[in-house]
Amino acid sequence: MSRVFKIAIANQKGGEGKTTTAINLAFGLAYRNKRTLLLDLDPQANSTGIFIEPDLISISAYDVFSGNARMQDAVVATAVDNLSVVPSHITLAEMETIGSNVDAPYLIRDALQQIEKDFDYVVMDCPPSLSVFTINALVAASHVIIPAQSEKFSIDGMKGLQNTINSVKRRINSNLEILGALITQSKKHTVLHKTILPVLSEYFPVFEAAICTGVAVGESHLSRQSIFDYAPDSRQAQEYSNFIEEVIHELEK
Ligand SMILES: Nc1ncnc2c1ncn2[C@@H]1O[C@H](COP(=O)(O)OP(=O)(O)O)[C@@H](O)[C@H]1O
Ligand SMILES: [Mg+2]
Repeated sequence: MSRVFKIAIANQKGGEGKTTTAINLAFGLAYRNKRTLLLDLDPQANSTGIFIEPDLISISAYDVFSGNARMQDAVVATAVDNLSVVPSHITLAEMETIGSNVDAPYLIRDALQQIEKDFDYVVMDCPPSLSVFTINALVAASHVIIPAQSEKFSIDGMKGLQNTINSVKRRINSNLEILGALITQSKKHTVLHKTILPVLSEYFPVFEAAICTGVAVGESHLSRQSIFDYAPDSRQAQEYSNFIEEVIHELEK
């Protein structure tokens, strides 16, 4: 039986490149013929917006969380072969209060069990907080990737994230493996990058691939495309491609 890799893209800080990484990882895996599900767990629904108009969403992760729908009812096929999405919706924010329910951390793990055999990869985009949704992703995940900018303030949050991941590992999901931190919006060869890299590696292994800052990334979001489709010759397309090859190599070795 083939194994499904469930990857949480997590960092409690906003603007670190989680959504950009989740979207492009999902596209890149699908383009490599991996059956991929992108599961949007951020109420801001940025990943969802690449694929679906918010007004057209009938069933979202919200309905799965609230127990009104099964995960399979929330899955939407995209125009891309091998790529499906479970959309998020702003109403998901209301579910923050579900944190008091003892079943809360396990809802996504349990709901995924019904459908994960249909996929090779599940990529989970998390909100910029250590809320119930990020915890759900870490509990459901087999692996976690941490996008981080090479900035001082990005490093400041690493200790908290490391503690949270370790707590989830120790108490709930001992199978959770840290795949690594991915440096995003990097200005390679700058003092900042060179200074931050060794500090970041004290917390997490760091991917060899790093993603440089470039306008093509923001433009690709605007045109609702992956970086591979919007700007195939861009530096960022090459770097995200290198990153995906590293992920596949590490997981499927
Ligand atoms: N490599 C990059 N170069 C330029 N802009 C980027 C890059 N990666 C992300 N961004 C931009 O930074 C902002 C935050 O990225 P995003 O992926 O939404 O982060 P998060 O999901 O962690 O909040 C977005 O406006 C995005 O377009
Ligand atoms: Mg995001």
